[in-house]
Amino acid sequence: MPAAGHSHWKLHHVLILMARRFSWPMLALAVLGASVQPALANNLLQEKAQRFHPVASSAGMVAAQEERAAAVGAAVLRQGGNAVDAAVATAFALAVTLPQAGNLGGGGFLLLWLPREGAIGTCHAAQRHPALAEALPIGRGEAVALNFRETAPLAAAADLFLRPDGSVDRTRILRSLLGSGVPGTVAGLTQVQDRYGCLPLATVMQPAIALAEKGFPVGAELSASLIAAAPLLQVDPASKRQFYKADGLPYQHGELLRQPQLAASLRCIAAQGSACFYRGRLAEKLVALMRRSGGLITMADLQLYRALWQRPLQTPFAGHRVLTMPPPSGGGATLVQLLKVLEPLNLAERGLNSAASIHLMVEAMNLAYRDRNRLLGDPDQVVMPLAELISDRYADQQRQRLSLERHRPAAELEAEPSSLSGGVNTTHLSVVDRDGGLVSLTTTLNTAYGNGIAVPGAGFLLNNEMDDFTAKPGAPNAYGLRQGGQNAIAPRRRPLSSMTPTLVFRAGGEPLLATGSPGGSRIITTVLQVLLNRLVHGLNLASAVASPRVHSQLWPDQISVEQGLSSDTIDRLRQRGHTVVLVPAMGSANSVEVPAAEHSLRVGSLGVADPRRQGAASVPEPP
Ligand code: DON
Repeated sequence: MPAAGHSHWKLHHVLILMARRFSWPMLALAVLGASVQPALANNLLQEKAQRFHPVASSAGMVAAQEERAAAVGAAVLRQGGNAVDAAVATAFALAVTLPQAGNLGGGGFLLLWLPREGAIGTCHAAQRHPALAEALPIGRGEAVALNFRETAPLAAAADLFLRPDGSVDRTRILRSLLGSGVPGTVAGLTQVQDRYGCLPLATVMQPAIALAEKGFPVGAELSASLIAAAPLLQVDPASKRQFYKADGLPYQHGELLRQPQLAASLRCIAAQGSACFYRGRLAEKLVALMRRSGGLITMADLQLYRALWQRPLQTPFAGHRVLTMPPPSGGGATLVQLLKVLEPLNLAERGLNSAASIHLMVEAMNLAYRDRNRLLGDPDQVVMPLAELISDRYADQQRQRLSLERHRPAAELEAEPSSLSGGVNTTHLSVVDRDGGLVSLTTTLNTAYGNGIAVPGAGFLLNNEMDDFTAKPGAPNAYGLRQGGQNAIAPRRRPLSSMTPTLVFRAGGEPLLATGSPGGSRIITTVLQVLLNRLVHGLNLASAVASPRVHSQLWPDQISVEQGLSSDTIDRLRQRGHTVVLVPAMGSANSVEVPAAEHSLRVGSLGVADPRRQGAASVPEPP
């Protein structure tokens, strides 16, 4: 594409338009601005022009998928908690109020940055523990990642889900106890709270206990979700008792859902910490269920489980510094590769969601997903060329392979078709505290309500995360990902994930934002577009999150697009050889931002609940 000529034409066109609408002094300013920063020449998206705006707070903020749980975190900030206390409080509350994805029986990833000193107090980190080798000094604080992804049980083998004829038994993966990995959530939340929190664990868990004990009025979204999930949840007697009324009917909007067994489990964790889950009362109940009903998880599996501190991946991008999750997330490495490939391609000049920009993004996505699926796995067990994958040199090579004008069919890159199915069942929350401390946390049971099986007497659902492994090389999982042997099932191995909790810092190391998303394989491209929209196209955080998204993952060989692209754009993509498919909204990137000091008229933080899913909220710390 003749980038320079094209953008000149655009600039000319924009100036004529502006001249018609605006006064000449404004136009002069625009021309001046354009000459300083050409990327803004056709950027009609300046702050005042934006249609969406973040919620502002004078102090901290919690953005999460369910309003009551977000309010719990905001109240914990007010009580003197930091971003970690608030994130842990919100995550436990989501285990009560968002049972599709919030959980005790699943796993996740977390990224945090906390200042060494701040108004909240130096209650965290170095005070109680030796320094973490994995922590990354950034600005006036440190960042670290926590991996509390599920592990395969000791008794699991690569062929666990293959029938005698070699085909994959999808029901066994998604709907049986064999699909459950050893849960990591309780280990992860208690471990991060112990090291970095300011308040006692029992204090941050209290609101979740109360929500489970006293109940909460079911919202429209949960009511509809439980109706839709009835065929899954009513098969399991414990789930049916927990999530439906005594007569088996679903709770209507406004009716009270009480979960006394879950309250007792939370109380046990609040009192005993993770020992309750991995050795004590909850371990016994979980293992008893496994024994009785043909699952693989043993007491040894639970006792061996560890959440792991990890050094975040990082890359400079558009004058900022992006930190994201390393493997066993395939998300962070893929995101870094995409940012590096795309940065020099002048997406701002090509325009937000123009056919030219989408084309380049999609071609880069396909290459990156091919690498994700072939090369990445659990770093504890497999060797992978991670450093090379996220290197500048490799990004340069990949960029050379992109045609600016033609889509390269997936078959040319690899030789198998696949189908993609959506997911609405992971959840992401972002927290910022008054010191700029950030937490980005994505957690999941995998598909909605996991395998639908609740642990009797314990009130929590089990995950079906084993579907994120390669059941058979090339056979698609729930998200249409066709993966390879690097991600085969093996004892104690963690399945490759797409969850991509991400933090962004200003050039000087000051915190800027926290983001992440659910959406299975679409998580990575969702986070990519939030970053591109905010950092390259100049949208505010709310518009960056709301803007229509596109996704491509090599297979199926198509661009999934959300409502909101023009048919002209889609036509131009088709002319380049793409198949374009309109899909339901993708992801839910609940995000927070720390405004620049000079712009903050006592605004401590900004928050955005993704408008794509009902019920999400961005709740400011109460004054
Ligand atoms: O870890 C992963 O990549 C998947 N288990 C995430 C699933 C997901 O995002 C479902 N929800 N929308």
